[in-house]
Amino acid sequence: MTEKCLLIVAHAPSPNTLRLRNALVDSARHGDISGVAVKSLSPFEAGAADVLSAQAIILATTENLGYMSGALKDFFDRIYYPCLEKTQGMPYALVIRARHDGTGTRRAVETITTGLRWRAVQAPLILRGEFCDAFAEQCAELGMSMAAGLEAGIF
Ligand SMILES: Cc1cc2nc3c(=O)[nH]c(=O)nc-3n(C[C@H](O)[C@H](O)[C@H](O)COP(=O)(O)O)c2cc1C
Repeated sequence: MTEKCLLIVAHAPSPNTLRLRNALVDSARHGDISGVAVKSLSPFEAGAADVLSAQAIILATTENLGYMSGALKDFFDRIYYPCLEKTQGMPYALVIRARHDGTGTRRAVETITTGLRWRAVQAPLILRGEFCDAFAEQCAELGMSMAAGLEAGIF
């Protein structure tokens, strides 16, 4: 069986968001899941080749000034046209860490993923308010379910 690739593109500029990214990555690499390679890159590192070789993607961003991070926007700017015709139907999930909102980021990301015709596997995880352990737990659940879904061929 050929190994599938789960790409995690997470902007993690603070200790809290690093914790979220680590929860996504560590859980996706759970020992019970086989046949799934998990590739974690910052949006600045990730490019079209990474997207083209992935079978599913988790996007994670902070909300800054009512919008996704500039890092994630830069990622989309670089991958949009190289991927447009080749990644339709890509299963993806979105995590937003916002202090008090998150809606502008959700709208902006979904506008782009709709243009790309990517397929959300669940509603966006919007982690707003005071940081708490439950946020990391929700990310762990998401990372594991994405990897398990790929392993099982659900997506
Ligand atoms: C320049 C700047 C702009 C921000 N703008 C927003 C915003 O528009 N909406 C929001 O909910 N949070 C906003 N935040 C809060 C960040 O989303 C939050 O600090 C970030 O997700 C990191 O989470 P943490 O503080 O738990 O580490 C902003 C933070 C910074 C530094």
